[in-house]
Amino acid sequence: MPSEGFGFRKAFLKERVKKMSNDVKNTVRTDEDIEKLLASLTLEEKVGQLVQWNAAALISTEAEMTGPQVEAGKEAGREMSSVLNFTGAEEAIRMQKKYLQQDPHGIPLLMMQDVVHGYRTIYPIPLAMGGSFDPELMAECCEMAAREAVSGGVHLTFAPMVDHVRDLRWGRVMESCGEDPLVNSVMGAAQVKAFQGDDPADRNHLAACVKHYAAYGAGEGGRDYNEVSLPERTLREWYFPAFKACIDVGVASIMPSFNSLNGLPSVANPWLMKDVLKDEWKFDGLVISDYNALGELVTQGVAQDLKDAAAQGYACGCDIDMVSGAYSCRLAELIREGKCPEEPLNDAVRKVLKLKRDLGLFEDPYRGASPEKEAETCLTAESRALVRKAAEEAAVLLKNAGILPLKKEIKKLALIGPFADEKDLIGAWSCHGQAAQTVSVLEGIRALLPETEITVVRGCGTELKNRDGSGISGAVEAATKAEAVILCLGEPGEYSGEGHSRGVPDLPGAQLELARQVLAVKPETPVVLFNGRPLLLKELDEIAPAILEMWYPGSEAGNAVAALVFGDAVPCGKTAMSFPKSIGQVPLSYTRSNTGRPKPGSEEEFTGYASNYMDCGNLALYPFGWGLSYTDFRYDSLELSSDVMTAEKPLTVTVTLTNTGDRKAKEVVQLYLNDVVSSVVTPVQKLADFKKVELAPGETRKVGFTLLPEKLTLWDLKGQARVEPGTFEVSAGCADHLILTQKFDFE
Ligand code: NOJ
Repeated sequence: MPSEGFGFRKAFLKERVKKMSNDVKNTVRTDEDIEKLLASLTLEEKVGQLVQWNAAALISTEAEMTGPQVEAGKEAGREMSSVLNFTGAEEAIRMQKKYLQQDPHGIPLLMMQDVVHGYRTIYPIPLAMGGSFDPELMAECCEMAAREAVSGGVHLTFAPMVDHVRDLRWGRVMESCGEDPLVNSVMGAAQVKAFQGDDPADRNHLAACVKHYAAYGAGEGGRDYNEVSLPERTLREWYFPAFKACIDVGVASIMPSFNSLNGLPSVANPWLMKDVLKDEWKFDGLVISDYNALGELVTQGVAQDLKDAAAQGYACGCDIDMVSGAYSCRLAELIREGKCPEEPLNDAVRKVLKLKRDLGLFEDPYRGASPEKEAETCLTAESRALVRKAAEEAAVLLKNAGILPLKKEIKKLALIGPFADEKDLIGAWSCHGQAAQTVSVLEGIRALLPETEITVVRGCGTELKNRDGSGISGAVEAATKAEAVILCLGEPGEYSGEGHSRGVPDLPGAQLELARQVLAVKPETPVVLFNGRPLLLKELDEIAPAILEMWYPGSEAGNAVAALVFGDAVPCGKTAMSFPKSIGQVPLSYTRSNTGRPKPGSEEEFTGYASNYMDCGNLALYPFGWGLSYTDFRYDSLELSSDVMTAEKPLTVTVTLTNTGDRKAKEVVQLYLNDVVSSVVTPVQKLADFKKVELAPGETRKVGFTLLPEKLTLWDLKGQARVEPGTFEVSAGCADHLILTQKFDFE
């Protein structure tokens, strides 16, 4: 019988095994085959199945190697089972050949890679995709990425990343679908299903790895890898749901996070790894430590040495050790000395072998990858069309005082700013995406408006500590001479992503001054932004009449910008993470609770002895769920099927919406809940559901939602999920701008 452990659909596996038994000889097909293979391995060989190194370990000379494996490699056993970080099909084939020549059992090598938002064709960063509120679109992008990655020899992607994020200082907010657990859960599950498909061996799909479990996004001060202290209630309500959602749809593996959580790094945290993950959620897939996370237990001061680290990770159910060498150097010794039992090793190896078997690697260790196939699969016109659509749907029109879209009949256009002619618009986790193959804003607009004369002036740089504004006068001159101007601003891709936190994430360099001076001579200039996190935009918002947030849009960036700015596409993305007014508000989330002394009066007014700041407001500049369109939507009514909900009787909520403008456009209808009185303090607004709809000009639509009792769940002080009787409010709109509200009782 095939494994059911990785959650891939059972029916497909049964079919496959039947087929294989007819046409494949001498391979590992059934669980019995796996048991036989397992029994034939020595202790060292079994440990080797849990060892992962950088690809360099197989294909580079010692001198070319970097990272922990240089040190550990001196002592490490020669056995290994998986690699990460390689460059494509040619390298993958070379590695697999070499590996199989050395392996006496013919067990293939497993190859892993961070395919986070595309392999060669890059779609918008996950924070942008979260704001598309479009799980089908996300799934299409992941399927495309899976096809490309498989053609390049990748078997498992370290994605999706579903960390709950509230702190824009943390550079990795770009990898997450944002601050809302529902959006992160829906998008996370969509990614897992699309990456893995129904049949793991079909060569268009690969295994997924949900990360980083848990609360990595809550590092103190927004500093990467930093410690986290959070009560269980908070973890369960905000940080855990997206992991659970991915497990529920059968994600093949999970990666514990680097950070310590309430005193223990995740990979060595028995409550997280055993009690919650295994016992409560019944996760039986692979646990893969993050890069050198076992080695870092020593640096974090919770392990004496690598041996102690190996023992702790092993006891917590870590299956694969990514590059620390702890397992390779010490696990066999620990088992021989009787300090660690052998049974968990057998279980872990079984899981590794089953994944290799389920992926079809025993039959075809290359899974059909080849440089030719890679060349013809990647960066096709079809993929480019898809990521362009994604970039258009994920962009958020933050502000528009009647400026956008611009008219196409412009004779003289000035493109100003460091991102006007920049091709590196693909973000920090863009795998094998290349800036050179990305469409810049200049290229996109040139293609759309071939008759327009375009002047490009950079104006200033983006260095963090260099506010040199000597180039601004040239930009002002070009702006003065042009009929229209577009300002292209932002932060470079390498300012976000892993290990790139910023204390004050503003527009780096002299960009704000550039905007001030250009807007002084051309007040009707729109700003187009490229960035991997919400930036501090209060000053820009005060001076710019229109702001279009593109995030890092991917390979088709410039074409998407051109379509949106000149009105061929209508913006419909929403913010997946709040933009604060001031860094002092961070961490900021729309899901705040009421205090006993809520802020009275207006947002701008300060009141003593109330919960507010003297020098900035309480609310976000652009809250979660915010985003304008080129049309107007009127929310006509919100109706409930009853004013009483019971455990057996869900409610139907109907929102009536009219497109009152003259453009066909999409709107994300969002429903929020408020538990009016409860045994614990609950958020004033929490997203309960959403639907994206497209309406023709003048069209009215009734958008229906089924509101299930489970949506009313709160986590009590004991960490138990409960729905409490009482009054609830359900509203439509976006966070902080709830337009229509109705009350109902849960009995
Ligand atoms: C470290 C990162 O935290 C993780 O997200 C990534 O998957 C691994 N490195 C492998 O590249």
